[in-house]
Amino acid sequence: MSVTEKMTSPEAVLERENLAYLGDAKGKSEGEWTPKIVAFCCNWCSYAGADLAGNNRASYPAEIKIIRVPCSGRVNPLFILRAFQKGADGVILCGCHPGDCHYMTGNYYTRRRMALLFSMLDYLGVEKGRTRVEWVSASEGAKFAATMNEFAEKIRSLGRNVRLEDIRCRN
Ligand code: FES
Repeated sequence: MSVTEKMTSPEAVLERENLAYLGDAKGKSEGEWTPKIVAFCCNWCSYAGADLAGNNRASYPAEIKIIRVPCSGRVNPLFILRAFQKGADGVILCGCHPGDCHYMTGNYYTRRRMALLFSMLDYLGVEKGRTRVEWVSASEGAKFAATMNEFAEKIRSLGRNVRLEDIRCRN
């Protein structure tokens, strides 16, 4: 999908997504656990960075579900909670670097909102390592892949997320 194609609302993508299949990559032996990771990526920078990573054949784990959003500021904190409710083991939010937001200030709001949300989640028992905000520009394909690999490794070390998952959401 290119950055100019029509975008589906992130709520709709998250709702229809069955996170249970994530990580079912080839070569996984039976019973082997792989983390389920949701990555919200802003259309103008990080999603283009993911595209570039793909074009450059920079690999990152298959268990990462990228959800494209018009701006990191479009990510309602409820989306993060919903992802955990649906069984995600980690959630990462990527946007344009501060000062580069296509909508001027979206990522400043994101930074403040997520700092509050992540502290609240930490208080509720969802370790800080399971959530992350990262700024990745359209030219940083290598950074995108490195960030995703690093984040997936962190989630693997933390293990399965047992907080907030609602088994009724398994589909
Ligand atoms: S457009 Fe990328 S963070 Fe706002």
